[in-house]
Amino acid sequence: MYDFRIDILEGSAALEHVPSFARAQVEVFAAPPWRLRWYEGTSEDPKSAVGFHTWVAQQDSVYLAAFAGDTLAGFAVGLVLNEEVIRTLELAQFGAGVGDYYFLVACVLPAFQRKGLFKRLVAERMELAHAKGCGTLWVRTHVESTTVTSTYCNDHGFHEVTRYETVDYGFVTVPRVVLRKNVHNGET
Ligand SMILES: CC(C)(COP(=O)(O)OP(=O)(O)OC[C@H]1O[C@@H](n2cnc3c(N)ncnc32)[C@H](O)[C@@H]1OP(=O)(O)O)[C@@H](O)C(=O)NCCC(=O)NCCS
Repeated sequence: MYDFRIDILEGSAALEHVPSFARAQVEVFAAPPWRLRWYEGTSEDPKSAVGFHTWVAQQDSVYLAAFAGDTLAGFAVGLVLNEEVIRTLELAQFGAGVGDYYFLVACVLPAFQRKGLFKRLVAERMELAHAKGCGTLWVRTHVESTTVTSTYCNDHGFHEVTRYETVDYGFVTVPRVVLRKNVHNGET
């Protein structure tokens, strides 16, 4: 049984770990169902994994970094939406607004999957979202990521809003599903 340690990292503390987050993201999202072609890149290249996380770490974001001993087992990011994030991630089309909470990325490295880590990373970000007082919470994922959709919908009361396709990194077509929870409507 793994006893993961989860560190909460913001701002410069998150930036220090960007290279290892980027390496994990390249590996994990290359596998099915995503098949994305992320590459590590540099902080100056916003389309690269390092550039993307350098940008995210400078938003109002919180990284949860999970370790097994000294080894990164996975990480997840949540953030309170601002106008720059909504524009960059094209979230206005679903009705996401400034002050809503967005579950941005979660990934668990293959050696540490199916040990309950993702479910912990979701539960901890739910607490962070509530602590921030956010009224509306959003997730966007792959339609075939059933672990993800069932965790948010069955365990945390999210509902499906829409499905659509994007042409994503490496010109890969990704069918996506958007999930939402309205906290103040009493959705459980
Ligand atoms: C999706 C992903 C985050 C899941 O991570 P994970 O840590 O393996 O997830 P969990 O262990 O919490 O749950 C996975 C499954 O293992 C099961 N599980 C949990 N603990 C377990 C244990 N001790 N023994 C056996 N199975 C277990 C869960 O019930 C779940 O089953 P389900 O898929 O039938 O619901 C991981 O596979 C991943 O990184 N995928 C690629 C990237 C991605 O899709 N990210 C999320 C969207 S942005």
